[in-house]
Amino acid sequence: MRSDRINQRYDRQHNVDTWRCLTVKELQTSSSNFALSERYIPTPELTFHALLSVLAADYKDYSFIDFGSGKGKVLLMASRYPFTSITGVDFAGNLHAIAEKNIHRVKQNNQLQCDNIQVVLGEAEKLPLPTGKCFFFLYAPFFGAALESTLESIRASLTQSPRAAIICFIDDDVPGSLVNEAAERIASWGICSEILLPVLPKDAAAVWPIRATCWRSSPS
Ligand SMILES: C[S@@+](CC[C@H](N)C(=O)[O-])C[C@H]1O[C@@H](n2cnc3c(N)ncnc32)[C@H](O)[C@@H]1O
Repeated sequence: MRSDRINQRYDRQHNVDTWRCLTVKELQTSSSNFALSERYIPTPELTFHALLSVLAADYKDYSFIDFGSGKGKVLLMASRYPFTSITGVDFAGNLHAIAEKNIHRVKQNNQLQCDNIQVVLGEAEKLPLPTGKCFFFLYAPFFGAALESTLESIRASLTQSPRAAIICFIDDDVPGSLVNEAAERIASWGICSEILLPVLPKDAAAVWPIRATCWRSSPS
């Protein structure tokens, strides 16, 4: 498949292991949220950088958090920006171990803009969130109650400590995409405004076209 070849090229260029997708059955976890998980599939590179370029925040003031970080590809790509810190959380032990290796490898590269990168093995909804400015990223990692509770933890954190934040939720643009549900839920909080996005460039590393919904909280 062409997308696989492009994602393999990313891995070769960065000496990491992120490209191969895993079915939900292949995720090693004892989490009760297992049945609400999506499979592991890495965010394609062009889409990620296009989004960060459009959002154009002063990233040096932001902590980056990827909910359902898998093998860590989003964390590796985020290290090209001057974030304060980069954190991923995933409940699958086999993916967490690969992410740790990948991070160790990219840290050998002294051209990173942020090398303060960590991965947490655990539930997305339980991750303690930084109290400074945050960039929250989700590539449709889970659905149902797991999605509700993780978005609720973001809402509660932003309500308790009002601050600038960006929430970026992406999914494959297919029937059953979670983008509308995430957008409706974030809109219902009344504390974030939607960021109008241009059409994203076609990304040959994606199996399906990708859709995104991005939101900004900017308390006065
Ligand atoms: C679509 S993959 C996204 C991978 C990564 N964010 C990326 O874009 O490269 C979804 C990931 O979410 C993880 N996941 C699913 N449910 C989770 C939960 N409740 N808590 C933490 N991680 C979860 C899965 O193990 C899987 O690695």
